[in-house]
Amino acid sequence: MALVTGAGRGIGAACAAELSRLGMEVVRASRSGGLLGDCSDPEVCKGWVARTVERYGRLDVLVNNAGIARDGLLMRMTDEQFDEVLSVNLYGPFYLCRAALRYILKSPAGRIVNIASVAGLSGNAGQCNYAASKAGLIGLTKSLAKEAGKRGVTVNAVAPGWIETDMTENVPEDAKKRVLERVTLERAGKPEEVAAAFDTLQGSGKVRHFGVSNFNPGQILLLQKFVRQPVLANQLQLSITNATMIGAGIHVNRLDDEAVNRDGGVLDFCWLHDITVQPWGAFRCAEGVFLGHPKFPQLNETLDKIAARHGVTGTAIAVAWLLRHPAKLQPVVGTMNPARLQECLKAVAVWLSREEWYEIYLAAGNILP
Ligand code: NAI
Repeated sequence: MALVTGAGRGIGAACAAELSRLGMEVVRASRSGGLLGDCSDPEVCKGWVARTVERYGRLDVLVNNAGIARDGLLMRMTDEQFDEVLSVNLYGPFYLCRAALRYILKSPAGRIVNIASVAGLSGNAGQCNYAASKAGLIGLTKSLAKEAGKRGVTVNAVAPGWIETDMTENVPEDAKKRVLERVTLERAGKPEEVAAAFDTLQGSGKVRHFGVSNFNPGQILLLQKFVRQPVLANQLQLSITNATMIGAGIHVNRLDDEAVNRDGGVLDFCWLHDITVQPWGAFRCAEGVFLGHPKFPQLNETLDKIAARHGVTGTAIAVAWLLRHPAKLQPVVGTMNPARLQECLKAVAVWLSREEWYEIYLAAGNILP
């Protein structure tokens, strides 16, 4: 569910159309179409958010696009000219972010995108008010990104260059020419191109593939409803001493504790849907690291015995134990120690027998039915 302001025309209309094309419900708000009102009024902003949530029960994406320009040289710029631009371009997004954030935080794929401008980055003669509002919006965006990022919501600003819309229609030809001379493509961009860029930003950020961390099957399905890019990886805590997701599969439908399905069968789900499970905490136990830990004498003895048989260390065997699982796990090892990494790499050449795999599993205190 997305709320796009200034979606009556221009870039906002194109963003709204692109979001619809991607399968999202979109509420359009502007002075000229959709929910009508002025975003420089905090009550209007609250009302737009309230009506969206009342109608759809949620809000996942907010695009702050509504904006105006009232150009003029600073010496001649009136207070009203300055205030009006700041009110729409900066205060409006602030009011909307404030009203919408509590709902967006509940979304599995919360996104806020603020349409700024290159003028906010480099300034523009005759646009002190406009450039100040967009520079302010970029600052607001970066700060809110830090606040909301912890809760999984991304906040980004898009700074378009010259885009031919009603807003730019009245710019004098010579000014237009001067701007276009500075554009690498030497032509104006199109609103659809902004929407496509927005899609890229929203969908995949700056990464090649899209993955998640600690998601259960329901959460992955919910996310896929909104994100076009396929989820290719799921990082989950998994090790010999924290193997509940393996245990649940082994103990299906039994009355013992091991049968408790704590994760919605995430291991099988990911395997079935070609989502690579990337175990993190491969050596972790509640007390730290199980390798050499006095709480796991039998496990360490077994690891050392099998390690000696394969000519590697217990570290490599702990990784090989994960690699031997048929779901083609890809362990994630968070170490800055090159020697440990080299040890882990040796696991690639170790192929544990089934007997060895289960011997290790049992030595860690796991049980079999
Ligand atoms: P536009 O003038 O074609 O459309 C602006 C939209 O915002 C309209 O739907 C209008 O109703 C709405 N709006 C204006 N004031 C409003 C208010 N107080 N409350 C609610 N809605 C209001 O403009 P365009 O070109 O599509 O620009 C959209 C955004 O992109 C603006 O924030 C603008 O600053 C930014 N931008 C535009 C560039 C361009 O070259 N066109 C370049 C860089 C940024």
